Amino acid sequence: MATETPVRREVFSTRIAFLLAAIGSAVGLGNIWRFPYVAYDNGGGAFLLPYMVALLTAGIPLLFLDYALGHRFNGSAPLAMRRFKQWAEPIGWIQLGICFFITIYYAVIIGWAGLYTVKSFNQAWGDDPNAYFFEDFLKFDSAQVFSFDFVPAIAVATALVWIVCIVVLSMGVDEGIGKMSKIFMPILTVLFIIVVIQAVMLPGAAQGLDAFFTPKWGALKDPGVWIAAYGQIFFSLSICFGIMLTYSSYLKPRTNLTGTGLVTGFANSSFEVLAGIGVFSALGFMSMQQNVPVDEVVSSGIGLAFIAFPTIISQMPLGAVFGVLFFGSLTVAGFTSLFSLLEVVVSGVKDKFDLQRKPAAIGVGVVMAIISIFCFTTTSGLATLDIMDKFTNNIGIVAIALISIICIDWICRRINELALHLNAVSSFRVGTIWRICVVNVTTIVLGYTLLQELISLISEPYGGYTQTQLALFGWGVLAVIVGVAFAMTVVPWRGSISLDGPPGSDFGVDPDVRRTIETPQKYEPARHAGFAAEQK
Ligand code: ALA
Repeated sequence: MATETPVRREVFSTRIAFLLAAIGSAVGLGNIWRFPYVAYDNGGGAFLLPYMVALLTAGIPLLFLDYALGHRFNGSAPLAMRRFKQWAEPIGWIQLGICFFITIYYAVIIGWAGLYTVKSFNQAWGDDPNAYFFEDFLKFDSAQVFSFDFVPAIAVATALVWIVCIVVLSMGVDEGIGKMSKIFMPILTVLFIIVVIQAVMLPGAAQGLDAFFTPKWGALKDPGVWIAAYGQIFFSLSICFGIMLTYSSYLKPRTNLTGTGLVTGFANSSFEVLAGIGVFSALGFMSMQQNVPVDEVVSSGIGLAFIAFPTIISQMPLGAVFGVLFFGSLTVAGFTSLFSLLEVVVSGVKDKFDLQRKPAAIGVGVVMAIISIFCFTTTSGLATLDIMDKFTNNIGIVAIALISIICIDWICRRINELALHLNAVSSFRVGTIWRICVVNVTTIVLGYTLLQELISLISEPYGGYTQTQLALFGWGVLAVIVGVAFAMTVVPWRGSISLDGPPGSDFGVDPDVRRTIETPQKYEPARHAGFAAEQK
């Protein structure tokens, strides 16, 4: 066991820096690229209600749980889980592994979005955005399992994305991530509001908005719609795969966790609904132009952003401006999420090997950048990306969320301890409803979702890919994540990090806060009411 010397962890200097970083992490490709097509696939209006239910019963409660774990155990995912319970360390490494694989493909999609921002100026896709995307842009070769045939523009764009990300992370939590979030988030908000205003003013937009907002009650009986809603909330809020846990470990001891969580959760969903309004207005426009119903106007998936939007851009007045703003927003939103994804990996490696920030960020970043460029910027990259996205999100995140909850409460019975921690520092107090949401609702929903997903992936090869592709980039990736997680657990912790969890340890939890947690009966609301005021 390491010595008792407390380790000073980096902190976000202000609450607003943390808040913008957390919202920046949540608002990403998931909001602009994924939400509209998931809503579109799941019947538009049918989707909003399950989505809101998922936000309230799982999204926000699990966001609080992530904040509580990171703040109380004051470490990266593996360190926080190690401090929570010695045998729980692999859970943290699995979360880190999931982030590793999401990060390496996420960077490439940001590269695509960056290139499309430039292509919007002259609408380089011409008359056939579909053929352009697959054949000219990606040079996609579905017959290859692994190609070494690089697509130079995508490789260069991806390399640039990695350079920006590594530089920002090397600058540190507050100087890098915090400062960038303060610059990027206002820019993103302004850009995106302009995009949405432009979209709702298009002829035919009302038809699209009707499709988005008209509830289809019958669809609520379809379990698939509910599964999609819960899946979307997990990815979109960046919960249960180490991101929010890592960010909250950089908070000062006295931070209003639940208040901040509520703002993050609702800001993220507002952004998502705004994206839905923009995208469905544009679909309404397309439906009017092509004279087909809104729900048949485009094929879904990746195509919605990179095929449907170019089509709309070519047809609309001031298309180039719209295109630059739309793909610019996608790029900016992607970056702030990418910082948070990479930070999970950097922070875990930094804690385990007791490294300084710069070598950790550069070392981890360069290795991941090389893998990312080799795997996804070649002519076989799209298939690899699609399979990895499906398996890490639909199996990886869901499974690790379920395992974490089983560990935290079904086995260790420590949900109350985390509730006390949240209440000792926060303005909005959690109680029985929160515990029921975290322990019962999410266990049932996640267990069911995971089972359904496993059955469907085993019974029918995903996306028509070959068994070799699925074995390598799907099941193989999951096996690597689990194998490496256990291997990393065996590696000893370096340096002077204390591995004991509170109470009794002293690795940065404010003594006042710790006292209230150890003796909650002496909790003095009046004194703690001042916590929020202390935050800048
Ligand atoms: N939460 C991030 C997104 O929505 C990962 O893209």
